[in-house]
Amino acid sequence: MNHKRALKHNIFKYITQSAEELQVESYVIGGFVRDYLLDRGDAKDIDVVAVGSGIELAKQVAKNLPNQPKVQVFKTYGTAMLRYEEIEVEFVGARKESYNENSRNPIVENGTLQDDQNRRDFTINALALSLNEKNFGELLDPFNGLNDLDKGIIRTPLDPNITYSDDPLRMMRAIRFATQLNFEIEATSLKAIADNKERIKIITKERIVVELHKILESKTPSVGFLHLEQTGLLQFILPELTALKGIDEIEGQRHKDNFYHTLEVVDNIAKTTDNLWLRWAALLHDIGKAPTKKFQKKVGWTFHAHEFVGSKMVYKLFKRLKMPLNDKMKFVQKMVFMSSRPIVLATDVTDAAVRRLVFDAGDYVEDLMTLCEADITTKNPKKFKKYHNNFKKVRAKIIEVEERDQVRNFQPPVSGEEIMETFNLKPSREIGLIKEAIKEAILEGEIPNEYEAAFELMLEKGKNLGLEVVKS
Ligand code: CTP
Repeated sequence: MNHKRALKHNIFKYITQSAEELQVESYVIGGFVRDYLLDRGDAKDIDVVAVGSGIELAKQVAKNLPNQPKVQVFKTYGTAMLRYEEIEVEFVGARKESYNENSRNPIVENGTLQDDQNRRDFTINALALSLNEKNFGELLDPFNGLNDLDKGIIRTPLDPNITYSDDPLRMMRAIRFATQLNFEIEATSLKAIADNKERIKIITKERIVVELHKILESKTPSVGFLHLEQTGLLQFILPELTALKGIDEIEGQRHKDNFYHTLEVVDNIAKTTDNLWLRWAALLHDIGKAPTKKFQKKVGWTFHAHEFVGSKMVYKLFKRLKMPLNDKMKFVQKMVFMSSRPIVLATDVTDAAVRRLVFDAGDYVEDLMTLCEADITTKNPKKFKKYHNNFKKVRAKIIEVEERDQVRNFQPPVSGEEIMETFNLKPSREIGLIKEAIKEAILEGEIPNEYEAAFELMLEKGKNLGLEVVKS
């Protein structure tokens, strides 16, 4: 079957023309071909293999393109990249690679298309379409990758031990593709991953995180985390999660397995939000349970302050994985820290408690509710319904309280400067005390969130502190 249909974009004409001028063969390979055959929409990244110099071909294409784009050359890898319209094209010379044992930097030798395909990660990623005039659009599929695409199988072109030790990141890629595409990983491949798991240590954290993000962004992220756990990779990447595994029993009392519970929560949240960081929060919401677990006579299993401990662990985990320590991290921390708050609230929804929740969570209060709803994993249908109904009530109350009291992103109606001016104060402890008293009174509903009432309270508190009014 010919696949000219995949090559309609006029970038391919330029590549064909340029390759003919240089008398080299060229092929489009990898993700673009795979996603076209899977009907996953048009990929914006195109990988081109030249049987010859990829860099020379890139330069020739750039010369021929109407906008003559800049070519970015990566000499160490022997690759070059250019952008045309919305598309990014990467060029590489076909290689016969042997990898250095201790890093993923290949020692490159020129090779044929087949040599190059042999050295790719999976049969479904080794599919190539010819860009040569003589057989334009022909599919070159030496390992029957088409059949694997059809059956949904992740398989390596060579012995998996070779493919994975050539580049250990591929262990994560296998799991990521299995999760994204809902494919099976071939048994010999899974075994090779388990056997080579320690080699993940030579991969940079940044590249590991890219794969973790893609797993988390999938429809059912648990597929990936189960594979990571079963192959032993998870222990190297996120030991905080493997520490949640297992059920202890003392005096007939058991707690739930918090690892499998966590995966259920992640799958639940994936159904309701695309927010990657909220998905991270779901993944990490219980990590504080491992270090805080205790058995107490009469009480049973407790995880005292696990939310606080967990939120501290989020920072360390992000740092270790070289993830950004910015507002995204703070968001995840906040979600973990507050993850039990609405649960406590649900049984007794008072206005004051809801005002405090909205005040503390700020703009993240809806996300927090979404996390709490995803956290409901009980298999008892009655309880399931009851817990969801409770949260519905909390959500309704949030709207009601918000409309009336506007405590989200709360700014005290009386400022520190005004307190200083009123009592002729320098920056001091008293100002903090007065501000705190006003905030507390508003959250408790003792005074409305308004200037007049707050000003009155300020005068009263000042008097109690023995302060004299110099300006009113
Ligand atoms: N590849 C490989 N080994 C890797 C990374 C990539 O063999 N560790 C090859 C595969 O043939 C892959 C191609 O390089 O298809 C392009 O890689 P990349 O752009 O990272 O992935 P895609 O397959 O395009 O998929 P996605 O865009 O979903 O990451």
